[in-house]
Amino acid sequence: MIRILAIETSCDETAAAVVEDGRRILSNVVASQVELHAQYGGVFPEIASRAHIEAIVPVTEQAMREAHMGYDDLDAVAVTCGPGLAGSLLVGGNAAKGIALGRDLPLVGVNHLEAHIYAHWLETEGKETPSPPAGGLEFPLLALLVSGGHTELILMRNHGAYEYLGGTIDDAAGEAFDKVGRLLDLPYPGGPSIQKAAKEGNPAAVSFPRAWLEDSYDFSFSGLKTAVLREVQKYSVPPQGRSLADLAASFQAAVVDVLSAKTAQAAEEFGATAVLLSGGVSANAALRKTTAERVRERVGVPVYYPPLSLCTDNAAMVGACAYRHFIAGERAGWDLDVLPGLRLV
Ligand code: KG4
Ligand code: ZN
Repeated sequence: MIRILAIETSCDETAAAVVEDGRRILSNVVASQVELHAQYGGVFPEIASRAHIEAIVPVTEQAMREAHMGYDDLDAVAVTCGPGLAGSLLVGGNAAKGIALGRDLPLVGVNHLEAHIYAHWLETEGKETPSPPAGGLEFPLLALLVSGGHTELILMRNHGAYEYLGGTIDDAAGEAFDKVGRLLDLPYPGGPSIQKAAKEGNPAAVSFPRAWLEDSYDFSFSGLKTAVLREVQKYSVPPQGRSLADLAASFQAAVVDVLSAKTAQAAEEFGATAVLLSGGVSANAALRKTTAERVRERVGVPVYYPPLSLCTDNAAMVGACAYRHFIAGERAGWDLDVLPGLRLV
């Protein structure tokens, strides 16, 4: 059995987890900084780094305690090295190096985007969401990676073999949710706030534009954001009640419409055996439901999405991803650097 301590500090969550054989979560601790950043309406990088410094040791110790592990029971230490905020990544990177050096353990560097996809290999309890079959997933797989910084359609032909099909040419989907959340005067982060506000709204109330960018798997959300701004400017105070719910629902529907349609089309074109919704925005209930329906209608393959706690940033997914690299013999050197602009492909 391979046990990996994984550390994640790429943005505003300080997270540590112990994962066995890339599948079993022995512990998964996340300290969120959301309340610290809420007053700024977004992540304040220097405050994020300082909060990571305060939290990293207690969070890591809690992960070890909850996994009933001593450091000598570990086979490796893994850490997210990018993409993300440089100052935040440095805190996790140095903590991981310290533990690896102190305990003579191998170090594995992990790409945060790849880790979001590997959340699908983790065993989950309670069947809150449809989980991949016990025998595992078969390739090729189509991943829709939608987070605060990324919106990409990726074809996964094998472990570690990725093909970029398309992505956003301006704002990421999560970024659009967060910016529109601010326009609607909703609490940060915008994604969950908009989903909540949209519950009572009519998604057809305002027909917001969809950027179809024909003949490509690319996305654009900046025009949509401007269209929401124009709607909001019609009000003398931020919209409330019925109109707020309708605006939130109509915006959410516009994002989900394009994401789900292009995902279903790509699943068909590339013969994917399943679709993996990955990243923070895959927590969105409307995105999950509509994508599952459209993919089912168009190609009849399953759409998987991790439980909420594994959609947003966490270290268990880093441990799952690190396992693949570890068994392939990959090791990071002591000169492992942070890579804020790291890409998947
Ligand atoms: O993956 P993640 O936790 O961090 C990054 O790697 O960026 O994603 C965070 C993003 C934020 O933009 C947040 O608003 C969005 O995921 N998000 C959601 C929902 N929950 C989180 N967006 C839409 N609906 C949600 N329920
Ligand atoms: Zn993320």
